[in-house]
Amino acid sequence: MKSLPLYLCTWVCLSALGLSVATAAPLTPLQDLGRQLFLDPQLSSPAGESCSSCHSPTAAFTDPRRDTPTSPGAIAGRFGNRNSPTAMYAALSPLFQLDSDGVTYEGGLFWDGRAANLEQQAQGPLLNPLEMANPDKATVVNKVRAASYAPLFKSVFGPTALNQTEPAYAMIASAIAAFERSPTFSPFSSKYDAYLAGQVQLTAAEEHGRTLFNDPTKGNCAACHPSTPSADGTPPLFTDFTYDNLGVPRNPNNPFYNLPAAFNPAGLNFLDLGLGPIVGNTGDNGKFKVPTLRNIALTNPYMHNGYFQTLLGVVDFYNTRDVKPACPDPMTTENLALAQGCWPQPETPANVNHKELGNLQLSGSDENDIVAFLGTLTDGYWQTPALSECLFNWAEGAYPGLFQPAGSVTQSQAPYTYRYYKAANAYLGVSSDDNHVYYLGSNGVMQDVGALPTWLKKAGCI
Ligand code: HEC
Ligand code: HEC
Repeated sequence: MKSLPLYLCTWVCLSALGLSVATAAPLTPLQDLGRQLFLDPQLSSPAGESCSSCHSPTAAFTDPRRDTPTSPGAIAGRFGNRNSPTAMYAALSPLFQLDSDGVTYEGGLFWDGRAANLEQQAQGPLLNPLEMANPDKATVVNKVRAASYAPLFKSVFGPTALNQTEPAYAMIASAIAAFERSPTFSPFSSKYDAYLAGQVQLTAAEEHGRTLFNDPTKGNCAACHPSTPSADGTPPLFTDFTYDNLGVPRNPNNPFYNLPAAFNPAGLNFLDLGLGPIVGNTGDNGKFKVPTLRNIALTNPYMHNGYFQTLLGVVDFYNTRDVKPACPDPMTTENLALAQGCWPQPETPANVNHKELGNLQLSGSDENDIVAFLGTLTDGYWQTPALSECLFNWAEGAYPGLFQPAGSVTQSQAPYTYRYYKAANAYLGVSSDDNHVYYLGSNGVMQDVGALPTWLKKAGCI
């Protein structure tokens, strides 16, 4: 068995004794520390904004405040220039790199790839004057020293961990990154995952949408948003992590245009050039990272500047961008553009991809079916009793000395369902919510032994 970091058994031991316990998805102490940092509204200056203000678990880790396309900062009247993306599945983004072809960039975090990994990313928002707005790292570390979770911080990183600013700040970021790597952010529990595992059928509209999504002569969406598992068995992430200029128009509703010159010297002429300035190549101007489409039904508005409020608007844009006439006013909203039957000119007309999108010749009902398919990518759908049963049967055969057929215990605690194979010496648990397999040995220590799909494959269940 693959051995991963251990954590102490609390909820599983109690439930094994038949006691009812309120549980959340199990996290390691490091991840739990990251969770508390992620949710702490004291960590901004002034207090009031946490990571979760813009990446809330209630909105698939995007900003649940929908009145502006970009997020308000901790200081009233300040806004960022880009739409808050989901932090879900971000842990699976590869490092930023130039492909072997010498032209294609892939990986990295942020819309323009400027952060290499989650640790680097997490250091940004705390000090960004348009976000959490702390004046310096020492201010953040002081806040953590005063927090209720300071003792946990010291037990995870050592008693002197909060003594010095620089190392403490890096530890804050690494705890947050560990939380973002937990199964909470990558549950792979959508209807589409259940469909891939052969557990559920799609409706006629969803199935037709799936076909259009994949067909290179129709929607061609999978060219950039791959929809099949990768060679190593990782379920599809619906992004190839490359960068492209789709020709998305400027968003007249972006509050960043009205920010003072100190933050936006260009005023109304502000142009977001995306990847180009990051890599110092004008040939990459206007390109943004292909985002995951998992949970897309929950994460409006869409695109780097939040131009689109609706998925139908997005799909119609892919379908008709090069067919409809240009709107007379380049600052026309999605609503008006759809009503007027036009599209405004691209924010960055250079480098627009005309090869793979813009004139797809889809009908109105095709567009609706693609939207229906996108609706199958919302997590929290999949319950796995049949599959975990299969896994338990396999474990019994594969480890005959360890697991004996002694019946099973089911523990239900909304929204999680855990099911344990009860044996003489060990328990095997599957959480349908976080899609991980847990193993509890007779030493009372609970181990996370890896992703559920990996084990299901090994056991021949899928
Ligand atoms: C005020 C809103 C706001 C706050 C607060 C905020 N973020 Fe973000 N987050 C954003 C925006 C906007 C972006 C995209 C910025 C860009 O591309 O330039 C982003 C990007 C990200 C990404 C990259 C996702 C990807 O796939 O590229 C991650 C991860 C993330 N944030 C995590 C965090 C963490 C951790 C914190 C707290 C330390 C945090 N954010 C605080 C708005 C916010
Ligand atoms: C050539 C690559 C490419 C193709 C083909 C493509 N996309 Fe995208 N997609 C992107 C990029 C890049 C973005 C982000 C662009 C931006 O923000 O400016 C994006 C963004 C999106 C978004 C918004 C995501 C968010 O979180 O804001 C949706 C929805 C989407 N695509 C759906 C589709 C569908 C449906 C199709 C097929 C009809 C498709 N895409 C085809 C590259 C592509």
